[in-house]
Amino acid sequence: MATDMAKRFGKVAVLLGGDSAERDISLETGHAVHDALVAEGIDAHAVDTRDTPLTFLLEQGFDRAFIALHGRGGEDGVIQGALEVLHIPYTGSGVLGSALAMDKVRSKRVWQSMRISTPDFVEIVDATDLGVVEERLGFPVMVKPVHEGSSCGAARVEKAGQLEAAWAASRQFDDRVMAERWVVGAEYTASILQDQALPLIRLETPRVFYDYEAKYVADDTRYLCPCGLPEKRERELNALMLQAFAAVGASGWGRVDFMLDEQGTPWLIEVNTIPGMTSHSLVPMAAAQAGIGFNELVVQILETSLSRDSLRQGVRT
Ligand SMILES: Nc1ncnc2c1ncn2[C@@H]1O[C@H](COP(=O)(O)OP(=O)(O)O)[C@@H](O)[C@H]1O
Ligand SMILES: [Mg+2]
Repeated sequence: MATDMAKRFGKVAVLLGGDSAERDISLETGHAVHDALVAEGIDAHAVDTRDTPLTFLLEQGFDRAFIALHGRGGEDGVIQGALEVLHIPYTGSGVLGSALAMDKVRSKRVWQSMRISTPDFVEIVDATDLGVVEERLGFPVMVKPVHEGSSCGAARVEKAGQLEAAWAASRQFDDRVMAERWVVGAEYTASILQDQALPLIRLETPRVFYDYEAKYVADDTRYLCPCGLPEKRERELNALMLQAFAAVGASGWGRVDFMLDEQGTPWLIEVNTIPGMTSHSLVPMAAAQAGIGFNELVVQILETSLSRDSLRQGVRT
């Protein structure tokens, strides 16, 4: 069996680390992925893109890449474009889907154009936009960087007097910042594997929102999977999330975050094209609920690179 696996995928680079704000999470994701691939008999090697130029993959005869990078430079189409140029097949979304999903403002514009509900928002470009936020959205609002992940630089703002400071804090993480209408309700995430939806997870935190602490540190975050919604409702929501995922050009695997307000209306928050893959991450949790173990999940994600095998002949599909 092991040799079959090795033959099917060849020499696999697990791209991890990098130099985004989410480097540490990427190292965790990448090592978990690497260990799973090795356990499945695949010839996998960890490659830290912070220290190693991608041309190393050509020099060392790698057949494909499993991209385990989060955030800018890894999840945003940059690495994907470089791998296209090098003719190396890779996992997950392509250049367009990665770039669009990383841009929360442009993702929301696409959803709005398709009448998929997403909270109203204002991009804060200069100080005059602070007044626009108050006028258009009212309070509270969520202020967050347009391109960041892991809740880095995000804050709930209760009143006008706090807005400028939150904008400044968010700008430490990104040159583009947005304010979004605060959704009162429950938070969910839809995991997508090989373009199929896995069971929804409902997230509950006693904190103000699902912030960095709640994601990675606190032990009082609750994850409900099954999520408690009626089966038919879950199916409908998953269909909507697949639509929202495809709308931004994302493909292969990923995660769509959304909220359900008190009236039961779903509000799209964001698409993650390379979500966390540590043993306590959300996609593995949803996969487990569907009877897919961690190693099998990782192999199924690696399979998403097979559709790009024509890259190796220099033929674009
Ligand atoms: N409009 C909103 N209303 C209420 N909570 C929000 C809103 N936007 C984001 N959040 C909370 O902030 C968290 C992080 O926001 P998100 O847009 O998913 O950014 P990230 O890319 O950092 O995960 C979400 O998981 C949710 O708990
Ligand atoms: Mg999120």
